Amino acid sequence: RNNDGETIDYVYKVVVIGDSAVGKTQVLSRFTRNEFCLDSKSTIGVEFQTRTLTIKSKVIKAQIWDTAGQERYRAVTSAYYRGALGAMLVYDITKRESFDHVARWVEELRAHASNSIVIALIGNKVDLEDKRAVPSEDAVEFAKNQGLYFFETSALTGDNVEAAFCKLLEEIY
Ligand code: GTP
Repeated sequence: RNNDGETIDYVYKVVVIGDSAVGKTQVLSRFTRNEFCLDSKSTIGVEFQTRTLTIKSKVIKAQIWDTAGQERYRAVTSAYYRGALGAMLVYDITKRESFDHVARWVEELRAHASNSIVIALIGNKVDLEDKRAVPSEDAVEFAKNQGLYFFETSALTGDNVEAAFCKLLEEIY
């Protein structure tokens, strides 16, 4: 049961991964609290946020884990991925490097997470369209080859954030 005395049917653990500064924490805050912070600090260690929502008439509590993209802050791997049913793999559409590293993040997922984990590839910061460095087609093709769902989002405007999380949670169900 949650605080409102509502019965929770399922608890889903979802992990958010990707390079540092791509917007992982802000995408998550947008989804769980509808908040955005422009001078967001780098995450140190692991934090999680939750949101309870109804999907296909079941009450789902999404427990979403956020960790630092920076290698030096990443003490966790196996523990972080343990029990995760979904993953949000985030890159920044204005930083080509963050997209070039996506394959490495997929490898890490395949090595440490469950084989049946549902993965969404997220190109964040679409509000900065004039600074775009990653064409959508490149990501569409990568996602197709790897069997990932793909969304372009903006944590700043909230564009597509809800859609991306809902799709991931629906596919887990
Ligand atoms: P680490 O904790 O270091 O791994 O970073 P992170 O991926 O969690 O990034 P974070 O959410 O802290 O965001 C990094 C910076 O990008 C912050 O200054 C955010 O305000 C900014 N940012 C995040 N999302 C967006 C977005 O959709 N649009 C724009 N314009 N800026 C964003």
